[in-house]
Amino acid sequence: MNDKSFVFCLAPTRLLLKVTLQKCHGQLIPATSMNSSNTNNAMSPSPNPVYIVTGASRGYGLAIVKELLLISPQAHILGTARSADKLAAVQAELGGADRFDYVAGDITDESVAKAIVDKAVARWGRIDGVVHNAGILDPMDHISKIPISFFRQILDVNVTSVLQLTQLALPHLRTSPLGLGRLVLISSGAATNAYHGWTAYCTSKAALNMLAKCLAVEEPKVVTVALRPGVLDTDMQQHIRDNGKGKLEDGTYEYFVKAHQEGSLVDPHVSGHVAAQLLVKAGKELSGQFVDWKGDEVKEFQKK
Ligand SMILES: NC(=O)c1ccc[n+]([C@@H]2O[C@H](COP(=O)([O-])OP(=O)(O)OC[C@H]3O[C@@H](n4cnc5c(N)ncnc54)[C@H](OP(=O)(O)O)[C@@H]3O)[C@@H](O)[C@H]2O)c1
Repeated sequence: MNDKSFVFCLAPTRLLLKVTLQKCHGQLIPATSMNSSNTNNAMSPSPNPVYIVTGASRGYGLAIVKELLLISPQAHILGTARSADKLAAVQAELGGADRFDYVAGDITDESVAKAIVDKAVARWGRIDGVVHNAGILDPMDHISKIPISFFRQILDVNVTSVLQLTQLALPHLRTSPLGLGRLVLISSGAATNAYHGWTAYCTSKAALNMLAKCLAVEEPKVVTVALRPGVLDTDMQQHIRDNGKGKLEDGTYEYFVKAHQEGSLVDPHVSGHVAAQLLVKAGKELSGQFVDWKGDEVKEFQKK
């Protein structure tokens, strides 16, 4: 490890922060970390809501960030993903660090999860909601051939990291000045439908739905919703078109290719609007539910 650490004082909070420079995509990135005991002594909270969005560098996560700022223009957002360059570009586009700040790193890394929560609390003094959107699809392969190490990795990214970040954010979500904290877990139709070649992905999303149900049972001060976002026009679909032939059933593969050719993939902003509205307004009656972005349960949250 050639990481370097140092301590500095973050004005105006006067909190001592330990900054670790870590390698990420070949670059040294400052990943802020702070003792969790410090997090509850932060500055007086911002009067405006504070939201965390994972996988905010591109695709659905970035669309959710932008929809969130349209719905709640005063909100502060802490975005995260591995690509520091993309997150820096998003920050510049959205008008600076008070609207959108970020932590670059792998969401499965516990120190990254801590840095995300610590940075949000050090900067704005509260956390009102988290969108758990970062996700991966591979390995696409027949069940008999899935490398176990890849199976472990997809569960780590799509499920375990969600629990890890949630655990760290829960003390703040429970005490949200909004009266309820909110979690939106980006799930998939694959959570309830088995597809050839997608055993790992389907299993991870089914587990995510159950995690949402369990959170709803055990955390009454937090509304947790699992959202099916539709077949989105993002890099993930491009990846399926490029790599899915021979891995998925022919009919499924052709369905995705045709949807792209016909322009019927879902615009991430249109579906992302529903995710953002759920983060801001979802009521307790939705907690633990798995909802479709086009479903009647979320009609009031769809783009008009
Ligand atoms: N696309 C669809 O049709 C579809 C359908 C149903 C559900 N979904 C779900 O929607 C969510 C977003 O999908 P998408 O289509 O926007 O995917 P995408 O275009 O591949 O984007 C994935 C995002 O997750 C981040 N990410 C991936 N692995 C990460 C890791 N280990 N640590 C931190 N960040 C990581 C990526 O950023 P970096 O690469 O910079 O880390 C990126 O921001 C996923 O949970 C996916 O399962 C998608």
